[in-house]
Amino acid sequence: MSAQAEVIVVPDAVALQEAAAERVLRLAQQSVAAHGIFTLGLAGGNTPLGLYRRLTQAPYSAALPWAATHIFWGDERYVPPADPDSLQGAARAALLDHVPIPPEQIYPVPTYYEDPAEAAVQYERQLQMLLEHGNGVFDLLLLGMGPDGHTASLFPHHPALRATTDRLAVAVAAAPKPPPLRISLTVTALNHAAQVLFLVTGADKSATLRAVLQGPEQPATLPVQLVRPPHGRVTWLVDEAAAAELS
Ligand code: 6PG
Repeated sequence: MSAQAEVIVVPDAVALQEAAAERVLRLAQQSVAAHGIFTLGLAGGNTPLGLYRRLTQAPYSAALPWAATHIFWGDERYVPPADPDSLQGAARAALLDHVPIPPEQIYPVPTYYEDPAEAAVQYERQLQMLLEHGNGVFDLLLLGMGPDGHTASLFPHHPALRATTDRLAVAVAAAPKPPPLRISLTVTALNHAAQVLFLVTGADKSATLRAVLQGPEQPATLPVQLVRPPHGRVTWLVDEAAAAELS
């Protein structure tokens, strides 16, 4: 994959949460020192939930600059926030309801429009504003990877991969991972990150991880390979089970 990608292997999911929490804290402090705010993009899926819970505990709960933190999501499932599938709902329950982030600094994907394309347009405005606040970059974007090589809601061979380069968010229909309707950051938006942190655990992702990091470029098949911010750094934090097939 991209020359600047760094891979860090830790023993298990608990070690991964700790290593991720340390990195979130360090990058948050650096961002606030550099430009006064910290823009943090949350990932969906189950893998980051342990990290989110960890951030609500000592030492992170007291050390993180919550008042300067701005939260957005790399993707969202097109369901109301109270739905068990909602990524906003899951992140609020694990993290956001337990820390003093000013509510107006949380930018959920608006999933209440009848037309998801309209939601993507509205969300894009919020992202644009965040980028303006953050000197043109998202400070830290957390992402997961599916066993099929998707990231955020950019799935293999899906038309959303070809969203025009001036779009930051796109509506995604017929996603292979349920629920089928979603909003995702585009490749362009993902590549505005100053730091990307992929969190990957489990043996079911080991073959894909090897293909992504050590195989040929095949971004239509492995959309996660499209995440290579020209002015940013990509770090893969993976457990031993996921790393088992890396050479
Ligand atoms: C979602 C995501 C998706 C997720 C990966 C990994 O809809 O859940 O945004 O991209 O991050 O599928 O999910 P796991 O961490 O649960 O494997």
